[in-house]
Amino acid sequence: MTRMKCETVRLTERRDLRNDYFSFTFAPFSAADKCRPGQFVHLKLPVGEVYFRRAFSVASVDTAKAELELIVKVVGRGTRILAALRRGDSTNLLGPLGQPFKPPRKRERVVLVAGGIGFPPLLFLAQKLITRGHDPKHITFFYGGRSRSDIIERNRIRKLGVNLRIVTEDGTLGEQGLVTDPVKVALQDHGDNCRLFACGPEGMLKAVNELGLTLNVPGQLSLEAPMPCGIGVCLGCVVPLTAGGYARVCCDGPVFEIGEVAL
Ligand SMILES: Cc1cc2nc3c(=O)[nH]c(=O)nc-3n(C[C@H](O)[C@H](O)[C@H](O)COP(=O)(O)OP(=O)(O)OC[C@H]3O[C@@H](n4cnc5c(N)ncnc54)[C@H](O)[C@@H]3O)c2cc1C
Ligand code: FES
Repeated sequence: MTRMKCETVRLTERRDLRNDYFSFTFAPFSAADKCRPGQFVHLKLPVGEVYFRRAFSVASVDTAKAELELIVKVVGRGTRILAALRRGDSTNLLGPLGQPFKPPRKRERVVLVAGGIGFPPLLFLAQKLITRGHDPKHITFFYGGRSRSDIIERNRIRKLGVNLRIVTEDGTLGEQGLVTDPVKVALQDHGDNCRLFACGPEGMLKAVNELGLTLNVPGQLSLEAPMPCGIGVCLGCVVPLTAGGYARVCCDGPVFEIGEVAL
């Protein structure tokens, strides 16, 4: 929290990833080197009539260039405004915010489970782990969506050298079914010495949470919640904890241990 910055940045690169997904690179962001996988930024939309900032996970950083990348799916008014930004336009970023993923031990097998737009923080995690020497062959990236249009940046993930397993509900790309189906098989076969990291829709997170608990595989989940303030003040983002009480997703999370939140 102490290292967060609130800065005006410029859009230096905009890529249309098709099907309402966009990659935006902003610079210079002086806290780019402080961003850890699982953390997010709160972005101010560059128009007066939308008051609340929007939360987006950090998808990658280039610390030498003080660049920060967000991958965004257009779902409503704010993200439509973002999609209309052009190179050179300015906006304001607050971050990095929230608790990051805890890195696994070097020899642990890493199981990443991304559902739809839960993909960006896990892309960043995979990149960071590999940069820090984790063997990409020990990382399996399960990536699920309803249809092939929900699966983006496949080649980028493949280039990391990790085992990529794509799963779509309608079978238009990769295996057919729910992403948690092959995750369950993988954990049953090789659950020892594994660590789970997941981000995606609530139903998927519930299923991963359940798998982790029943198969005794530790790990962490990154949650989403409405985030009016993003800094722990408004209590608009609270979730109930299994041990009782509540936690704020914006500052106690968004990353929580498996079993910690009553999903
Ligand atoms: C910690 C965190 C990280 C996130 N990371 C990303 C990311 O990397 N990429 C990305 O595209 N999106 C991400 N999101 C979701 C993103 O914040 C919302 O999609 C965005 O705020 C929607 O704004 P909007 O004005 O376009 O939609 P609105 O008009 O506000 O809402 C449109 C629809 O989206 C739903 N919605 C709005 N906000 C959220 C939310 N926070 N979570 C779930 N549903 C929501 C609404 O209920 C409504 O159905 C993240 C959210 C959080 C909390
Ligand atoms: S968004 Fe305000 S307390 Fe979390």
